[in-house]
Amino acid sequence: MSIILCTQHKGGVGKTTLAVHFAGILISQLNRILLIDCDTQSNAWLFYFGDKPQAPLEIREYSNRLSIVWNPQREPIRRLADIESYDHVIFDMSTPLPDTVQVIAANHPDKIFIPVSPNPWAVEALSDNLPVIAALEEQSLVQPEITIVPLGSSKKEIDDKIKIINEVPKRYKVARRMRYLAKETDQALREGDFIWNYQKLEDVRDYFVSLLKL
Ligand SMILES: Nc1ncnc2c1ncn2[C@@H]1O[C@H](COP(=O)(O)OP(=O)(O)OP(=O)(O)O)[C@@H](O)[C@H]1O
Ligand SMILES: [Mg+2]
Repeated sequence: MSIILCTQHKGGVGKTTLAVHFAGILISQLNRILLIDCDTQSNAWLFYFGDKPQAPLEIREYSNRLSIVWNPQREPIRRLADIESYDHVIFDMSTPLPDTVQVIAANHPDKIFIPVSPNPWAVEALSDNLPVIAALEEQSLVQPEITIVPLGSSKKEIDDKIKIINEVPKRYKVARRMRYLAKETDQALREGDFIWNYQKLEDVRDYFVSLLKL
């Protein structure tokens, strides 16, 4: 079982985009997935079901491969379900950085994906969240693999930003850039369909597959 955390403490930077598409890729590869929506807005839940959950910790099956739980209080996952019965547990984290710290410390993710959309604050935020993850590592709490994901933003700008951050996690990569598809990703999220199901966007599926292999 692997635990995948999609997090960034700024809003609108791509956490839900990553989480719902990762779940889509992994179910197509015949894995069993638990998707944990930690956002009060429950956008990942909305993407799959088209409605809102009724109460915290509601869990619903989307298919026999994917269950989704709404966990706005960020309860440790071992309390939520028999997590060993899943191949992957994916978190769509809420925005505040302390929430992310709480989830990292309680759940020990194997992989952390940090999306960076073209919003100016998305790349700036790396100077807050990378040192926080590095500090958790220092305390020997975790040693996750970190992947920073340029969603339509500039990989060079991210590389340049990281050079001036003092404390960075031991294992991090900056993935190649996803091409600029702001309107298209917004539409996919709104309509609850994977972006690769839209015309001329079929190739984007390979991009998400490649992220999961990094
Ligand atoms: N390839 C891309 N090119 C340009 N913009 C992108 C790309 N991928 C995602 N985005 C933009 O990033 C934003 C991501 O929205 P998303 O809902 O996934 O963010 P979020 O971090 O989950 O937000 P919230 O904090 O509200 O939960 C959207 O506005 C979308 O247009
Ligand atoms: Mg979101």
